[in-house]
Amino acid sequence: MCGIVGYTGDREAFPILINGLKKLEYRGYDSAGIALEKEDGIVVYKTEGKVSRLEEMVKDKDLSSRTGIAHTRWATHGVPNAVNAHPHLSASGKLAIVHNGIIENYQVLKEALEQDGIPLKSETDTEILVNFIEKIKNETGKNLFEATQLALKRVVGAYAIVLMDADAPGRLVVARKGSPLVIGLGKNKDYIVASDASPIIAQTKTVYYLDEDEVGLLEPGKEMIIKTLDNKKVNPRLTELDMTIEELEKGGFEYFMLKEIYEQPKSVYDSMRGRIHPGKKIIRLGGIEPYENHILEADRIIMVGCGTSWHAGLVGEYMIEELARIPVEVEYGSEFRYRNPVIRPRDVVIGISQSGETADTLAALKLAKEKGALLLGICNVVGSSIARETHAGIYTHAGPEIGVASTKAFTAQVTVLLLLALRLGYLKGTIPRERYEALIEELAKAPDLIEKVLQTDLQVQQIARHYKDMKNFLYLGRGINFPVALEGALKLKEISYIHAEGYPAAEMKHGPIALIDENMPVVVIATKKGNYDKIVSNIREIKARNGRIIAIVTEGDKQVAALADHTIEIPEADEMLSPLLATIPLQLLAYHIAVMLGRDVDKPRNLAKSVTVE
Ligand code: M6R
Repeated sequence: MCGIVGYTGDREAFPILINGLKKLEYRGYDSAGIALEKEDGIVVYKTEGKVSRLEEMVKDKDLSSRTGIAHTRWATHGVPNAVNAHPHLSASGKLAIVHNGIIENYQVLKEALEQDGIPLKSETDTEILVNFIEKIKNETGKNLFEATQLALKRVVGAYAIVLMDADAPGRLVVARKGSPLVIGLGKNKDYIVASDASPIIAQTKTVYYLDEDEVGLLEPGKEMIIKTLDNKKVNPRLTELDMTIEELEKGGFEYFMLKEIYEQPKSVYDSMRGRIHPGKKIIRLGGIEPYENHILEADRIIMVGCGTSWHAGLVGEYMIEELARIPVEVEYGSEFRYRNPVIRPRDVVIGISQSGETADTLAALKLAKEKGALLLGICNVVGSSIARETHAGIYTHAGPEIGVASTKAFTAQVTVLLLLALRLGYLKGTIPRERYEALIEELAKAPDLIEKVLQTDLQVQQIARHYKDMKNFLYLGRGINFPVALEGALKLKEISYIHAEGYPAAEMKHGPIALIDENMPVVVIATKKGNYDKIVSNIREIKARNGRIIAIVTEGDKQVAALADHTIEIPEADEMLSPLLATIPLQLLAYHIAVMLGRDVDKPRNLAKSVTVE
């Protein structure tokens, strides 16, 4: 939610900031703005709309400056317009701020400002925050760094902020709590700070992930100063980024989403690399090895996640219960955190998150930690908040995912969950040796199988043409493919804005069947293994009511092909692998429909990639 970027150094700030915003735009894109330090003070340009609009707006302006901050917004307080867009200036015009997060006690802070007669122009919590910092600065005579420390001690909520002060040229003050912030250290001791590493990688690979409740002072040519809110000095542990610029570019694809769909053979391979040894018939998960006995003795595993990551958790539930016979519950982070859940020390809680920053998942994990559970993380973004909050974890290594619709992150999560289920099943002795070995072999072949499924792209595109104008879709699956149906429906609704529902196929007769007619296409995952006959019966029930069926079937299937209006074949594989394969045509279907409808596939309306607010 919201992307922030700041630069201070010996180079022109504007190109670094605007290119940084473009990389961060997936985090929010309803308004954008930039503040630059000039000799006679700070100038701010901001507008409703995307970063391209901001770029257009400033093209004739004098943008020369070596220090600046910029923001791309996903509105929380106040409608998306130029006034509410960031950066916000303090009443004196001397301080400028960009902010990602939500200040929960903004009303209390606002009242303090109102008592002093400080005027506010916007409806945002951020403008309140910058004025509150200025008030403390004026009252105490402290510098911006110290005033920020003092002010933040009185702030409740989540924030990643970058501040500039017209009276302290060249300096940026940064702070975080709950929202991510990465500081890049350039060769000439110049600094670029951003919500994630994507704007930084073109400038430097050396970074520091600012920790909770830390405040930093960045001044070109000098060491960064990092302190806690309580003014304890922190020695920043620098790390090297392991991503490449190419990974952040579209590489000839029209949209990141399509590129990421096509990257799945590689991302699934990367999520297994070094962990699966088909020759030796061994799986090893280094990150969780010290905790394996603890997991094996667990009373139950609880998985928490949101959106697509929650769907991956549901797939994982089938896998772990089937292969390792450990009871699993899967919870939405948002529900779990607010319902006083029963958690015991012998519970293992697994947080699943692509970004590793999702506020609800993070809060659910913190709650479980307080109650004594062992926390594991399955995250894609290395060094993310969830990765750091958990005791141990397994990175998915899918590479940066930029499209708001999650694709390769899902298949990487499912792969990692299958590795985990197999490892636990092996250690517990709950999986017959033959199946274990056969599954390892099949899993090792999954990248090739996915490659094969991607060859259905053209066919899926043609099917999309038939159905692009439909107003509703139903997605059905059974067993391990029920969550895949949910995921297919989510993909379609979030990028095409077509209403879609996912259901376990057998549930249809308990309500949704009333909706079936020729205007309600039904996408059915009807692969051979797992409840095949049952799903064939469900398909007959739909056909009997004039429903139109798009079926995902196992290669060579004749029975469903004879009933369905369209069939998309995927290679035969163990049931445990079918989510990895069946999900690909559903991603492609959603993608093509959205493109045909002229949607902004990578940046669908109202959404943002990392949901760092509740
Ligand atoms: O970064 P996370 O995996 O924690 O994100 C969770 C959801 O916000 C995310 O999966 C969302 O549902 C996607 N837009 C789905 O495509």
